[in-house]
Amino acid sequence: MKTLPFPYQHAIEIASQKLLYLIATYPDLTPSFTQAGKWRVQETGWTNWCEGFLGGSLWLVYLLTRDERFLQYAEHYSRLVELRKSDRNVHDLGFLFLPTWKRWHDLTEDVYARQVVIEAGQTLTERFVPQGGYLCSFQGSHSLYIDIMMNVPLIFEAALLLGDDNLLNIAHQHCLTTRRYLVRGDFSTAHEGIFDPQTGKFLHYQTQQGWRDDSTWARGQTWAIYGFALAYQYTHKSVFLQTAEGLADFYLLHTPSHGIPPNDWDEPNPAFPYESSAAAIAASGLFILSGLTQDPLRAKVYQDTAYQILFTLCSADFLTEDDAWEGILRHGIYHLPAFVGVDESTIWGDYFFLEALWWANQSGSFSEKH
Ligand code: GLY
Repeated sequence: MKTLPFPYQHAIEIASQKLLYLIATYPDLTPSFTQAGKWRVQETGWTNWCEGFLGGSLWLVYLLTRDERFLQYAEHYSRLVELRKSDRNVHDLGFLFLPTWKRWHDLTEDVYARQVVIEAGQTLTERFVPQGGYLCSFQGSHSLYIDIMMNVPLIFEAALLLGDDNLLNIAHQHCLTTRRYLVRGDFSTAHEGIFDPQTGKFLHYQTQQGWRDDSTWARGQTWAIYGFALAYQYTHKSVFLQTAEGLADFYLLHTPSHGIPPNDWDEPNPAFPYESSAAAIAASGLFILSGLTQDPLRAKVYQDTAYQILFTLCSADFLTEDDAWEGILRHGIYHLPAFVGVDESTIWGDYFFLEALWWANQSGSFSEKH
């Protein structure tokens, strides 16, 4: 294993300790966000979409450290989500199975893990609304979320494993519909599109976690950067690469040089300046995109930006060494309008932070600046 430069290596050590503490203190629980720095385990909070990120974090720490304890924990926490492969109530099966069972399969080619990934992907296709050409959100058949771009790769993966053109077509159509309706002309994104499910006609935009229906919720933008990059990786359709690049350029253009966006770029004078989980997702997505783009200049800019984000997240303002604070990254925001998980740690922010560190470790090229 290569050794990462100090701030990144130190972050992995802190993350490992915090994860060991989490699983010892709240055994078999999979919290989503903290409250005053303590993991909130009494409730799922809105929808239960986060149960795969702890298992996923344990896989990543195993990959980064090769400490066998984390392999056992990763398998155990992956098993805890297995039953959700037939969950037809949410659009979030990618969030549950890509960090856990897909990683397990990638690593071992285990035939049972392969089957779990396939079944979860097949279940997700049942959310397809043929009239509109999209996978609908948990809100119902009228609703398309930008977040689903991070879940549709599970269908691409199942399609690939099975050689199933029907699954491939569903995933492809979903990406095209999202591109058409939720990505605006300036490559900002809308959080939700509302459709007439009978005719498939687009009716209007809406937001759940952003500032306004016509504004740009930062995490949605980062789900889209990452999701369209993967759509290109699976399909090799240039429209998805161009979309991911446009979305990434919007992020770069609108985010301060430290790399951390607010919850919504359009909200004037936000009370909380940072949404660190969006930054962690962006860093991971930009590492992926830097390996896909055909343009060497873009590749360098995306990789440098990913390192800049990681560098900022590894600073004392974000990475907490304080044992009393149970999460890894401070200053994440779950749901600002409902004031749930605001300026706290989030399990997905911690997961994508670790994933970005893992990409940094894979890439092995550290910009001189950092
Ligand atoms: N439900 C996905 C998110 O909050 O980003």
